[in-house]
This record gives sequence, C-alpha cells and structure tokens, in this order.
Amino acid sequence: MKTLSTLVILLGVLGGLAAQPALAAPNLANGKNIEDTKCYKCHADKSGLGDGTLIYTRKDRRVQNLDRLKVMVARCNTELRLDLFPEDEADVVAYLNQQYYKFKP
Ligand code: HEC
Repeated sequence: MKTLSTLVILLGVLGGLAAQPALAAPNLANGKNIEDTKCYKCHADKSGLGDGTLIYTRKDRRVQNLDRLKVMVARCNTELRLDLFPEDEADVVAYLNQQYYKFKP
C-alpha cells in the first residue's frame, strides 16, 4: 500500500515537472496574432511604407539586440496603452525575434 501511494505521488511530481517547460515556452502563434491585430497597422501607417513588417527589417532599425527588442515592445505596449500581459509581451518578442530579428538568445 505504501509503495503504491509513493508511486502515485512520484508520478504526480514527475507529471508536474514535465508540464512546467511547456508552460514557460513562448507561444509564437499568440505572438503572431497580437502583432497582426495590435501592431501591424500602426507600423504600416507610421513608417509610410504600407507594410507594417518593414519597420522591423529596415536598414536603420532601432533594435540591435534581444534586450533592445524587449525594451521596444514594452515601450510600444505601455506608451500606447495596448494592455498586453507580460506573457503576451514575451510571446510577441519571441515571435518578432524568430521571424525578423533572429538574435541569438
Ligand atoms: C499607434 C502606433 C503603434 C502601435 C499600435 C505599435 N507601435 Fe511599435 N512602433 C511605433 C512607431 C512610430 C515606431 C518607430 C519608433 C522610432 O523609429 O523611433 C515603432 C517601433 C517599434 C519597434 C522597433 C522597430 C525597429 O526599429 O527595430 C518595435 C520592436 C515595435 N514597435 C513593437 C511593437 C509591438 C510589438 C506592438 C504591438 C504590441 C507595437 N509596436 C504597436 C508605433 C506603434
């Protein structure tokens, strides 16, 4: 009996550990969705280029490393009151880095 309950507890702990990294990993689809709906249009208008992604790939872009990317996303988020949660901000950062900036972590 004792071994059985120990086994059950052990499985529960292992299951919990296995679930952790999945929760912590950025959700790129969520990041893309946020970029498409909350960021793209303004960047397209403000850059005057008609394409909201060119602001990330232009030659004189402001973001030159991953820390700057986090800062810029946070700045657009707070200054423009986009109301993203920190997890959403992290998802957008991960998406933009994977898609456009490609900085090493
Ligand atoms: C109301 C307009 C507006 C919205 C909405 C907006 N931005 Fe921006 N964003 C700007 C402007 C303007 C700049 C250019 C700033 C500059 O060049 O000094 C910019 C620049 C950036 C840059 C830096 C690009 C570079 O040069 O490398 C990032 C990253 C960025 N925004 C992320 C976001 C994200 C993520 C969102 C949505 C969650 C967002 N922005 C929403 C106006 C906006």
